[in-house]
Amino acid sequence: MGALEVAVTGPLLIVPGDHSDALDLSLVLPTYNEVQNINVVIEQLVASLDSVSNLSYEIIVVDDDSPDRTWEKAQELSERFTQVRVVRRQGERGLSTAVLRGWQQARGQIFGVMDSDRQHPAETSCALWTAMTKGSDLAVASRHIKGGGVSHWSIGRRMISRCAQGIGIMVLPEVLIKVRDPMSGYFMIRRSSLEGRELRPLGYKLLVEVLGRGAMGKITEVPYIFRERSGDASKISIVVCWQYLRHLLRLRIDLLKSSQFVRFCMVGASGTLIDTTMLYLLSDPHTLNWGLTRSKIVAAELALTNNFIWNDLWTFGRFAAGQNSFRERFRRFLRFNLICSVGIMFNLILLNIGFNYFHMNRYIANLGAILLVTLWNYNVNRRLSWRTAAKK
Ligand code: GDD
Ligand code: MN
Repeated sequence: MGALEVAVTGPLLIVPGDHSDALDLSLVLPTYNEVQNINVVIEQLVASLDSVSNLSYEIIVVDDDSPDRTWEKAQELSERFTQVRVVRRQGERGLSTAVLRGWQQARGQIFGVMDSDRQHPAETSCALWTAMTKGSDLAVASRHIKGGGVSHWSIGRRMISRCAQGIGIMVLPEVLIKVRDPMSGYFMIRRSSLEGRELRPLGYKLLVEVLGRGAMGKITEVPYIFRERSGDASKISIVVCWQYLRHLLRLRIDLLKSSQFVRFCMVGASGTLIDTTMLYLLSDPHTLNWGLTRSKIVAAELALTNNFIWNDLWTFGRFAAGQNSFRERFRRFLRFNLICSVGIMFNLILLNIGFNYFHMNRYIANLGAILLVTLWNYNVNRRLSWRTAAKK
């Protein structure tokens, strides 16, 4: 009998590494009190995956120390099916993290997950696999495309499912629109799409996390019909719904924090503060009373230097990694200045028009000008100053 494996602890990170003994596929079956189902699920899954020629795979059952001893049953099955491994997890619970703990122990180049309560048809795994072999980075079994569906859901259940998706789209539009069925718990993903990334899911919806933090190019959906559950009901509870909401918010905040555009805007805000303060100190009639254009040039150059430092270390830090000698930084600084000098020129023109022709307040005119120039600066700098660093 295969030994029970102990779950990995620590961060939920897929560590990049040497996988010279790699298999094609590692499919995780998360289980909690599935002693009635695990047998059939594994038999059907093995039959399906064996029908794919030349596929080397493993099935990893990750059980959260179920009171009905599902892990024991799974261990018995691993005697019959040597490709089955069993992780008995103690001290940690939850569907999404169980799957990730399984993947952390996986040897496959492609990861998969499927429910183990017979609601997901095992045959669909072949279609998912085919999609992966055709170059997808992520293949999702979907209820909401042609050929897919739910068997006999009540209106209420359908509404809850759609509601969850609707809330998700409001909080994380750019993530949820990537697929038609982001609530699916049945999918395959390339190991390389997750390597080196720490995932922080909460509750049931691992796919949302993967869509938000993974690096995927091609995504494919494959239809399936979500079956009725035989025996007792879904383990979804009010706690799971609450976890879903918290998960959405956490992901939203994390994605904003790591968004280059948001960082660029925050740096820009600090630069704007410096620019405005300097403009006041130099040009205001109550202070030095220098000419507007002269003051603005000094103010802008100071703000620009501030922005460059933060962008180089933080906003585009990942691009520039490994090219941080003084010479390389200085070259980037010159290029940045060159690009921004065009921006400063626009800025000066707009400021002068606002102040001299429209008699606007100088600070308001200046803020308006900065806002307009920022978009231009972001795009051009990303492409020219740091993109070249990223390429090398
Ligand atoms: N290890 C572990 N730990 N497994 C769990 C846990 C847990 O805390 N909670 C649930 N599972 C297992 C169940 O045993 C089952 O195999 C699978 O995860 C799905 O749980 P259900 O409780 O049956 O979920 P559901 O039927 O409401 O919803 C499922 O279907 C959706 C539609 O495709 C979920 O899998 C969703 O993720 C899925 O998208
Ligand atoms: Mn279920």
